[in-house]
Amino acid sequence: MSSKTFYTTTPIYYVNDSPHIGHAYTTVLADVLARYHRAQGDNTFFLTGTDEHGQKVQKAAEARGIAPLDHCNDTVVRFQQLWKKLNITNDDFIRTTEERHKKIVSAILQDLYDRDLIYKGAYTGYYCVPCERYFTEKDLVDGCCPDCKRKVDTVQEPNYFFRMSRYQEWLIDYIQTHPDFIQPAFRANETLGFLRKPLNDLCISRAKSRMSWGIELPFDSDFVCYVWFDALINYISAIGYGTDNKKFEQYWTSCQHLIGKDILTTHSVYWPCMLKAMGLDMPKSIFAHGWWLTGTVKMSKSLGNVVNPMDMVDKYGVDAFRYFLMAGMTLGNDASFTEEEFITRYNCDLANDLGNLVNRVVKLIIRNFDGKYPRPAAIMEQGDQELIAVALQAVDSVRVAVENMKLDTGLDCVMNVVRSANRYMEVNKPWELVKAGQTERLATVLYTAGEVLRIVSGLLYPVMPEKMAELRYVLGMSEADQRGVSFEQVRSIGVLEPGTPLHDTAGLFPRIQVPENKPCQAEQVKIKKNAEPKVKAKKEESPVPEGVITITDFQKVQLRVARVLTAERIENADKLLAMTIDLGNGDVRPLVAGIALFYEPESLIGKNITVVANLQPVTIRKRESRGMLLAVRTGDKLTLLMPDASCNPGDTIG
Ligand code: MSP
Repeated sequence: MSSKTFYTTTPIYYVNDSPHIGHAYTTVLADVLARYHRAQGDNTFFLTGTDEHGQKVQKAAEARGIAPLDHCNDTVVRFQQLWKKLNITNDDFIRTTEERHKKIVSAILQDLYDRDLIYKGAYTGYYCVPCERYFTEKDLVDGCCPDCKRKVDTVQEPNYFFRMSRYQEWLIDYIQTHPDFIQPAFRANETLGFLRKPLNDLCISRAKSRMSWGIELPFDSDFVCYVWFDALINYISAIGYGTDNKKFEQYWTSCQHLIGKDILTTHSVYWPCMLKAMGLDMPKSIFAHGWWLTGTVKMSKSLGNVVNPMDMVDKYGVDAFRYFLMAGMTLGNDASFTEEEFITRYNCDLANDLGNLVNRVVKLIIRNFDGKYPRPAAIMEQGDQELIAVALQAVDSVRVAVENMKLDTGLDCVMNVVRSANRYMEVNKPWELVKAGQTERLATVLYTAGEVLRIVSGLLYPVMPEKMAELRYVLGMSEADQRGVSFEQVRSIGVLEPGTPLHDTAGLFPRIQVPENKPCQAEQVKIKKNAEPKVKAKKEESPVPEGVITITDFQKVQLRVARVLTAERIENADKLLAMTIDLGNGDVRPLVAGIALFYEPESLIGKNITVVANLQPVTIRKRESRGMLLAVRTGDKLTLLMPDASCNPGDTIG
């Protein structure tokens, strides 16, 4: 076992929600990371759970005429069942209604109150009676509730506040001096942008007369604790803070929080300030991933495009679903999930590339060597050694990819090994070696391919545990090795013992029939390359003159309003500004633009600009840029196109 410790967390999910792809994604991601770390011998702890207090739960329970806790007990099962179905190996599942959690929240509240870090003050703001929610001025839409659009009441009432403002300078400094604390880097910039405005103290109480389903404040029984203040504490209450110091100290500082981008501020501002006030160290990192979209459209109940993970697993199997989630999202960015994209990737990567390799190798060994691994020649040819080198290189690449949260790149490396192995088979043509009776060479080729499959199965095991355990069974590995994958063994050579029997397989990844005969991308390329146009293309009815685009061409460009959140100069690049822009709906992105000679960075913050939102991302001076801003050039002057403040981030131009 290595001496490293790895502790990872998912957000605790609102127990009332129906589990959707967003919940499934973060939890599978945490599971895959935990499995990789376990395979590396790291001391690993993986926590997930449910957030069970608050108004929505109280209301849902009232509607059912039952106690809130009974409602939670009924609904929590949906998450627990889904995690079972998705093969999630969490070490603990915390519910915020459990005594072990409530006790710690209460103790923390009391301690902060005793040290005057929580005080009673007057809350001034707005309250929507039908929605039973508090709002600030900037939340309101035309002076009305942003949800139900009705008039809101101005309220001034006592409440308890956490002295969060006290930590603003410290937090800015911490983020600046710990560049890996908030990831990806543009989310750290987004947080710093938020911290440019004065940080207010945080209202951490709710009057029981309005909402009573929460943890009672230990120093005032008329109030319960604000649900976020209660929820964030799960990350430490679950690992023994205040009850099991040894366990807590073992795990806490190695903690890597995984969250979605919409809950960044609570994690990157509230939580560090709370920890600082408690006198605790910071977690190692907070990583905010992007959202799954349908194409480019946000998933929402009203559009009916929310992906239900249970349905996907029932239809295509758990491992195919896990593979798509991990291969399909570049961590940090948004990604698209459609069934068509899912099938295309499955057929290309799993059915074609990996599935075919397994079939070829296993069947040839079974047919020609009595179902047992042949003994390879003592001296391998260069091609054999090269293939082994590619596979071993992938072991390192995957380790680095996991450390840098680039799982899609890691999986790409493994798929490259598979494709190299398929090419190796094409070049060495073992089926012709059979015909030519070159048994010794045949043995070396098939043994080498078998070893590469063993390495691949180990590298893919954390993502597809069921299928890879099956593959390792097919490869004749011992029962202990089928599931107990260790990377130390994965990176050793000569693990498969000649003479060990393999098991036949009917196919690990049966091809999914593509609707409307749509071939996968790789096949499309093949078809395009080979197909000779038989009939001359019909002449266009009204040809478009050169230099003119059609309305369809124009509609491909997404022109949108964006608000500048942060802007700064880039060292040694006089012309460039690095910005973080908000495109509405939680779509916050990095953007690099050549405008530093014309605009002071500070003058842009809070301003609207116009952006081509669907331009392919590029990296400029090691910084990612996702979009291009529009500006007018007049002689030596450059003027940005800046929609006025009445326009909102995300508004469409055109
Ligand atoms: N209870 C809070 C978290 C408290 S943590 C101390 C919460 N719960 S939630 O149930 O709403 O969490 C949803 C999680 O799913 C968030 O991380 C959110 O970003 C994520 N997603 C919701 N929709 C999503 C997609 N379409 N795609 C990816 N993840 C998205 O917030």
